[in-house]
Amino acid sequence: MDTIEELKEQIVRLQGQVKEQEKMATLGLLTAGIVHEIRNPLNFVINFSKLSGDLLRELNEDLAPYEAEIGEEDWEDIQDIQGNLQENLQKIREHGDRAISIIQHILLYSRGKEDEFIPTDICQLVHEYVWLSYHAMRASLQNFNISIQEHYEEGLPPQPVVPQDLSRAVLNVMNNACYAVWERAKQVGVDYRPTVEIRVYRQDKELCISIKDNGTGMTEEVKKRLFETFFTTKPTGQGTGLGMYITRNIIEEKHHGRIEFDSEAGSFTIFTLIIPMKA
Ligand SMILES: Nc1ncnc2c1ncn2[C@@H]1O[C@H](COP(=O)(O)OP(=O)(O)OP(=O)(O)O)[C@@H](O)[C@H]1O
Ligand SMILES: [Mg+2]
Repeated sequence: MDTIEELKEQIVRLQGQVKEQEKMATLGLLTAGIVHEIRNPLNFVINFSKLSGDLLRELNEDLAPYEAEIGEEDWEDIQDIQGNLQENLQKIREHGDRAISIIQHILLYSRGKEDEFIPTDICQLVHEYVWLSYHAMRASLQNFNISIQEHYEEGLPPQPVVPQDLSRAVLNVMNNACYAVWERAKQVGVDYRPTVEIRVYRQDKELCISIKDNGTGMTEEVKKRLFETFFTTKPTGQGTGLGMYITRNIIEEKHHGRIEFDSEAGSFTIFTLIIPMKA
């Protein structure tokens, strides 16, 4: 039997965890708002970059009649600078377009109605949430820097999934992997290369998303309890112990799939989210 004291402690702990979850829910709403707000200025950046490219070309046309007067050396200089400017503008556009595409996808995922199955490019979804997790970690952990290796099978057909749920599952597993490698990096010497490897591939009639890290790994006890609600080995404020519980619900209940994992303490962990494929 638990003593009153123990129960009181448990209550305080649970209250803390509820607060954490509330924070996460607010964060979800915020994301949708932020995404919306960022898209507008990004469009300005891209459009002004296009406009500047056009102006630059016009300037060059206007200068052309004066080529002889300007002289060979100066003319070459001007052409070089113009070339560089065009390249820079091109890069601004490319990266701007990339940012827009990421943002549009996030918006799509966070907007989907609850339980709505939408044909989804799984590789793209995984890719985006892998990096979302990475950047969130970078923002919250000082000097956070790890190697991420991605392998996506080509030609996988879009799969009907609940994007906002599947992305949450990927985020949970990826967050854990990032945390595990960073914990190990803090413990061991300079030779260690924190690495997370992501794979999306088809196996028979199933789609597999695997996330492997060379982090702290899990002891036998952690392996046994990992999917329990509120089971965490992280300090308060850093883990609520709901991540894997939620992930299992999303994969098993909602998507009728399963989760496989393997791990060795002090060495590695791999989680594979497996969902049945539709033709
Ligand atoms: N990749 C991993 N490497 C090592 N341990 C892991 C890994 N993934 C999960 N674990 C262990 O499983 C526990 C439970 O994970 P879970 O994601 O459910 O909760 P959490 O990460 O502690 O908190 P949160 O609710 O914020 O996700 C972790 O505290 C950790 O001990
Ligand atoms: Mg977690």
